[in-house]
Amino acid sequence: MNPTPTPAALRKLRRALLAWYDEHRRELPWRRDADPYRVWVSEIMLQQTRVAAVVDHYARFLQKFPTVQTLAAARESSVLAVWSGLGYYHRARRMHQAAKLIARQRRGIFPRTAEEWRELPGIGRYTAAAIASIAFGEATAVVDGNVERVIERMFGAVEGREAAWHRAESLLDRERAGDFNQAMMELGATVCTPRAPQCPMCPLHNWCVSRGANPARPQAARKRRQLIYGLARRNGSVLLVQRPAKASLMAGMWELPALPEAQHNGAEPMAKLRHAITDTDYDVSVFTVAPAKFHSSAVTARWFAERQWERLPLTGLARKILRRLPA
Ligand code: ADE
Repeated sequence: MNPTPTPAALRKLRRALLAWYDEHRRELPWRRDADPYRVWVSEIMLQQTRVAAVVDHYARFLQKFPTVQTLAAARESSVLAVWSGLGYYHRARRMHQAAKLIARQRRGIFPRTAEEWRELPGIGRYTAAAIASIAFGEATAVVDGNVERVIERMFGAVEGREAAWHRAESLLDRERAGDFNQAMMELGATVCTPRAPQCPMCPLHNWCVSRGANPARPQAARKRRQLIYGLARRNGSVLLVQRPAKASLMAGMWELPALPEAQHNGAEPMAKLRHAITDTDYDVSVFTVAPAKFHSSAVTARWFAERQWERLPLTGLARKILRRLPA
């Protein structure tokens, strides 16, 4: 295992990593300035979500809620509507709650330190450190999955998350903490990737024990599930049902009614698609059904015209299905 580099080696390592970042970093929309609101929104969206999926939602979110005040004044359903498709909807709810606290109790003034950020809903250790370092230059390191892998490869051992936080703190460039943190994440995302890392391109190559060998972690097997939905249409409207307010996932959001297996009697689905959520791949079939089939009092069901869909807090899958409907 690699010992912690000497102070002179550390200076070189930081310089090499930051020079690489200055030259090769992706031009992502949240990197254009260090405005705390914009950094906060990006970091919440980037939790457990790929950069490509975030880019699109980020622009729409900021267009709709350009400031913490506009976000605080919004209804929760409007916030969820813009979040639709990003998943992990509790993030949007907690961000909305935090916006109200910032706008009302803090008179619009953002926390500056990671410690203060952590007092807000939805802000854990990683997010607090990311925002404080990127938006305010606080000298505090971050570890996400990418950084953990970079560190494990560099030091040649799987030591766990807590040890990675210590290692990251010892490597951190305290003058450019935000850039350093983003550089480590960027390196993990684009060069020191889980499979086929690009070691010849890596600015940390000289300090790396494993040179790309994988500190192999068993991959969780993906699950496969079937989902069957009924599509009832009437004069351009579609019947949707609302998930219970107490549902553990996607509470309060709208979706197509689930169809019991027996109800489609071997007919052909009007649409088939695939949908992946975390570790599960869903095979989704949608069957046309007569409106009269739905008389359940157990769920909230309502007709929604096409022009209402955009502003409705739909589940990501429901939005995907509705976008594919023939006119
Ligand atoms: N993942 C989460 N936040 C990030 C950031 N600021 N840069 C790169 N990857 C990230």
